[in-house]
Amino acid sequence: MDKLQIQGGAALEGEVRISGAKNATLPILAGALLADGPVIVANVPHLKDVTTTVELLGGMGATVTIDERMRIEVDPTTVRDFSAPYELVKTMRASILVLGPLVARYGRADVSLPGGCAIGARPVNIHVAGLQALGADITIDGGYIRARAGRLRGARLVLDTVTVTGTENLMMAAALAQGETVIENAAREPEVVDLANFLIAMGAKIRGAGTDKIVVEGVERLSGTTYEVLPDRIESGTYLVAGAITGGHVRIKNTRPDHLDAVLVKLHEAGAEIGVGENWVELNMHGRRPRAIDVRTAPYPAFPTDMQAQFAALNTVAEGVGTIIETIFENRFMHMLEMRRLGAEIRLEGNTAIIHGVQRLKAAPVMATDLRASASLVLAGLVAQGRTEVERIYHIDRGYEAIEEKLSQLGAQIKRVPN
Ligand code: EPU
Repeated sequence: MDKLQIQGGAALEGEVRISGAKNATLPILAGALLADGPVIVANVPHLKDVTTTVELLGGMGATVTIDERMRIEVDPTTVRDFSAPYELVKTMRASILVLGPLVARYGRADVSLPGGCAIGARPVNIHVAGLQALGADITIDGGYIRARAGRLRGARLVLDTVTVTGTENLMMAAALAQGETVIENAAREPEVVDLANFLIAMGAKIRGAGTDKIVVEGVERLSGTTYEVLPDRIESGTYLVAGAITGGHVRIKNTRPDHLDAVLVKLHEAGAEIGVGENWVELNMHGRRPRAIDVRTAPYPAFPTDMQAQFAALNTVAEGVGTIIETIFENRFMHMLEMRRLGAEIRLEGNTAIIHGVQRLKAAPVMATDLRASASLVLAGLVAQGRTEVERIYHIDRGYEAIEEKLSQLGAQIKRVPN
């Protein structure tokens, strides 16, 4: 198993190109199952989760091809098997995204129930209840969600909690249902909007994506299309924090600044000078130490839970005391304990982390526990004195394309070595 070795100290400087969004690519690839012809998805990031999704679709019989520019073609007309096996779901919870499309298009799905997760319980009850309300017959049997249905019927769905993949699953299912579906308390994340735009390109009738009320007028069929995935806002935010934490000057290209509002406000509070263009963001710390900031995670457009760990890293070396409140997942503080091993001063009280910035972190071996936690440990390593080793980086490969190459481009001393 590989690990990352980071020699801390360099202020990052330069430009980095942002990849396509993981959390838009995964639902879009699953959504390809709804089409009655081939779908081509462009700007796909080269990530383990994408490979897992391709494996999942391939296992169902879909014909999947990937070209050298990471354009993925999914031809769903050859699908013969309507299941997502435990072996894949246990490695990637987002596999649940095939549930809605399979039920809507083929009238059956056997999808392994995702188990617990390193960041929280993450149940899928809202996905299941929503599909039942659309007319699917669902039982849980042998660890699998077994769904059977004729053509789904539109319904008014009021989601208990704002859920990103729940909204996506139900929007995909409703796209082929008979009649109108209204999803109230829908997630407003840009990735939900990207999926809606993809479905619309296939012929779906959807309005309101990006608001908390999505209205879907079901159609009888959806056709193949070509679609380009939006840039990854979490990868964007992570490189901006890398610039800020090191007192550096970075420019991220091929991004969507309008998706980064909450993150940019916090970086500005931390003392960064920020410049924004149509598809780029520039951050300059002028060599200064960041100021501690307070963060409270909440659904979009508020501050994203997927950026919480990176800002915790920033606070560890900031001037002053910053608090991080996590409201989405109940166990998303594992990185705090690892950062303590680097000398960070962090007190945990329930879902709040109180971080006293220290002048300097000191290198140590640390272990990644989930995707964003790994990113935060890499960021901490960039400012720790000495050589930090981040182990279990398979987590990072699930969501960050070529992170060591991109950071090296910015002047970081980082390399991947076998363990
Ligand atoms: N929830 C329920 N019941 C459900 C579904 C969700 O109670 O049926 C709860 C969850 O337990 C959680 C809250 O609702 O407390 C919100 O979770 P959500 O369903 O929105 O999360 P998700 O859809 O499973 C996606 C991203 C996550 C990101 C969250 C929150 C994808 C593939 N995953 O997960 O991304 O953290 O939304 O924004 O889109 C990551 O990329 O590292 C990652 C974890």
